[in-house]
Amino acid sequence: MKEGRDIIAESPAFLSALAMARKVAESCSNVLITGESGTGKEVVAKFIHEQSPRNSRGFIALNCAAIPDHLLESELFGYARGAFTGATTNKIGLFEEAEGGTLFLDEIADLELNLQAKILRVLQERKIKRLGENTLRPINIRVIAATHENLHRAVQTKKFREDLFFRLNVISINVPSLRDRREDILPLANHFVQKFSITNEKKILGFTPAANEFLMQQQWPGNVRELENRIERAVVLSMNSHIEMDDLHPQVGALTLQKQNTLNFINGKVDESSKILSMEEMTQLYIEYALSLNKGAKEKTARDLGIDRKTLYRKLGKRHPTL
Ligand SMILES: Nc1ncnc2c1ncn2[C@@H]1O[C@H](COP(=O)(O)OP(=O)(O)OP(=O)(O)O)[C@@H](O)[C@H]1O
Ligand SMILES: [Mg+2]
Repeated sequence: MKEGRDIIAESPAFLSALAMARKVAESCSNVLITGESGTGKEVVAKFIHEQSPRNSRGFIALNCAAIPDHLLESELFGYARGAFTGATTNKIGLFEEAEGGTLFLDEIADLELNLQAKILRVLQERKIKRLGENTLRPINIRVIAATHENLHRAVQTKKFREDLFFRLNVISINVPSLRDRREDILPLANHFVQKFSITNEKKILGFTPAANEFLMQQQWPGNVRELENRIERAVVLSMNSHIEMDDLHPQVGALTLQKQNTLNFINGKVDESSKILSMEEMTQLYIEYALSLNKGAKEKTARDLGIDRKTLYRKLGKRHPTL
């Protein structure tokens, strides 16, 4: 089923989260959305905004974890010219930018305590002061917050203010992880195939039965985001009308890891005083590395390196036993 704009929902668990979202959309209450990374928290937040009477105004999103603490305050509250060095003009903040609409505060658990107190005051008084100003400006916004962390625990360990937690948590919606809503896996996968076939100008119709089975067997710790990335890569790699199981392996990650291991190995061998290796020395080291991975098996190492045995022996400075 397609809910709203491109939201795929088949599983009872996710449908019930969306039903809750639709119900709260009417009101102006603050909402807290919880769920693991990549489950679709922002998708649900946008859905609430789109279903709400505020949908003709903006949906403004701020990722609290992505902006350094000292910039977050001016980002949210705005500032008057001259408020601090570098404030050469007046600037409105996101609280004002979201006027009439929705402010989405993502990764709320990352807010430092000082800013938590300031945000709490805004939620209580519905007024803000730009930095460097004394004028109180009324605001009319709805706040939706999200986190992948356990806020209860953050409250217990005093990393998150309890009063702000209660303010935000008027209504909470948990977005289930993908392994708890397996009915969504294939519909999502097909949706992403369509999406990336269009952007990559390919004609891919779907998956082979083995590929479908493979998708269903995975645990998807990175949830929908991981599935989406995996399908994007498969669409780019696929040469056929249907994606095959081999296209779906997360090889890119493995290759990167292998590269990293090779670099670590070589770095460990490089003398500080002679940082740049000659091509010859580099080749020598790489052969050593490949040999160690293959536990000394020369036949296989030569095959892996794409050279013949004789060349491998020559490079190792040894005579080929049969020569
Ligand atoms: N039900 C869904 N239907 C279609 N696409 C989805 C759905 N859920 C998530 N996505 C896609 O998956 C990706 C991750 O979703 P989103 O950013 O909402 O997750 P998140 O929980 O906010 O993740 P993070 O914790 O990493 O911020 C996005 O590209 C989104 O478009
Ligand atoms: Mg998010």
